[in-house]
Amino acid sequence: MPDLIKRRDFLWMGWSALLAFLTGSAAAAARFMFPNVLYEPSQKFNAGPAKDFPPGVSTLWFKKQRVWIVRTAQGIYTLWARCTHLGCTPNWFLDQDRFGCPCHGSNFSRDGDVIAGPAPKGLWRCKVEVSATGDLIIDKAVLENRPGTRDKAPYFAEV
Ligand code: FES
Repeated sequence: MPDLIKRRDFLWMGWSALLAFLTGSAAAAARFMFPNVLYEPSQKFNAGPAKDFPPGVSTLWFKKQRVWIVRTAQGIYTLWARCTHLGCTPNWFLDQDRFGCPCHGSNFSRDGDVIAGPAPKGLWRCKVEVSATGDLIIDKAVLENRPGTRDKAPYFAEV
C-alpha cells in the first residue's frame, strides 16, 4: 500500500491547523476589546454672544444645530426643532407667529406649546447657559418641556 501522506506531512498539517485556529482565536479576542461604538458629535455647542440675539425667534442655528433661539423681554430659551409627534423638523412661520410641522400638521406656539395637530406635547427646550464671556452655551442633551420647569434655569437664561 502506497504511503499517501507521510507522517511528517501529517504532523505539519496538524500544527498548521492548530496555529491557524489559535491565530483566529487571538484575532477574535483582540477585536472583542474594541467594541462597536458610534462617536457622535457633542450635543453641546457655543451659539455665540447672547447680546447678538435680538428679540424674537432666531433661525441662525436652525440648519446647523436644529434649534431656534428665542429672546423674550425676560431672557433667552432654546427650542429643539424636533416635532414631538414623530420627529419631523417643523418650520418657523414669522408671519403667523407659529412653528408648523410639514409631516402631519402639528403647530406650536412661540413658547413651544401645541396649538394644533397630533403632537402629544410641546417642543422641547434645551439647556441654555451664559458663559463668563457672555456666550450662549446650549446643550441639546438636556431637555425639558413642562411649563413652569422649562421657564427656569437651566432652560431659560436671564440676559
Ligand atoms: Fe410632526 Fe407628525 S411628525 S406632526
